[in-house]
Amino acid sequence: MKKIGVLTSGGDAPGMNAAIRAVVRTGKYNNMEVLGIRRGYNGLLHSDVVEMGPRSVSDILHRGGTILQTARCLEFKEEANVIKAVENARNLGLEGLVVIGGDGSFRGARDLSLHGLPTVGIPATIDNDISCTDYCIGFDTALNTVKDAIDKIRDTSQSHDRCSVIEVMGRDAGYIAAYVALACGAEAAIVPEAPFDLERDIIGPIAEGKKRGKESNLIVVAEGVGGSAEIAKQIEARTGIETRATILGHVQRGGNPTVQDRVTASRMGAYAVELLCRGIGNRIVAKQRDAFVDVDILEGLNMQKKMDSELLDLGKILSI
Ligand code: ADP
Ligand code: F6P
Repeated sequence: MKKIGVLTSGGDAPGMNAAIRAVVRTGKYNNMEVLGIRRGYNGLLHSDVVEMGPRSVSDILHRGGTILQTARCLEFKEEANVIKAVENARNLGLEGLVVIGGDGSFRGARDLSLHGLPTVGIPATIDNDISCTDYCIGFDTALNTVKDAIDKIRDTSQSHDRCSVIEVMGRDAGYIAAYVALACGAEAAIVPEAPFDLERDIIGPIAEGKKRGKESNLIVVAEGVGGSAEIAKQIEARTGIETRATILGHVQRGGNPTVQDRVTASRMGAYAVELLCRGIGNRIVAKQRDAFVDVDILEGLNMQKKMDSELLDLGKILSI
């Protein structure tokens, strides 16, 4: 291939810029032209593109967000629009495309591949919920942002002998909640992947802890479970411990990417271009057991990811 496109789609994630940079520069290294497509699939539908040379990606490696901007483009779920996008891509001379995003974005990538535009997906979402890969770009940065916030909440919670309920992002997934609960010594992580009982999982352990002299508690709730304000109310009413709820929100999606996210994004960006160079599309770049591999998009989308229940169990043991 001599000319490829790159776009970012769905929720932004720290490290997307590092991936764009890797695509552009590996493309240049392989004598390809690279077009940046703006605002996700919208840019492909409206031919909103920008030429990207190696200098166009200077000074972005360390920045959160995405210089190409991103969007949720609902029209793209309609086949007629996918066909229009493939036509536009042909008119722009594009022979292949790199899509940086989550599994919704990969459904769009699958449709483009099926309609004749070879497309490679790079997993990037702070939720870390793409089944075919152990790791998604942005997860580590989000974890560190949340860890810093919870450490601060712990200072004030401890000073007041309070319980703090902290709601973290994760639309359908509890990876952020499960990891930071362990990293921050929370009493419980409430995640969509595991059934949750207020009495058994929160009230009981807090009451037991109180008997052992524990006056301050942290409970991490994944957004996919939600209801953190109500959970806080119930804890206060049933245990007598003053309780506050904090919803961390979009602060979790911003910030400078960590080393892990910069390195993973650089490796995955280069890997995606190498696939397209060899004329291979319809793949997702993935990290499996510390190796970079590629999987068929459809197979990847159909895989199931399982939350490691040991993470949650260990959190309970260590917060005794
Ligand atoms: P993410 O990629 O982070 O999972 P979304 O689920 O919002 O984010 O998807 C991002 C975009 O991908 C959507 O706005 C839409 O343009 C495209 N997309 C999502 N689902 C599909 C689908 N089933 N078919 C085609 N395109 C889709
Ligand atoms: O998928 C990433 C994510 O941050 C989810 O954790 C969250 O539910 C969603 O995006 C929020 O999306 P928006 O930015 O549209 O509010």
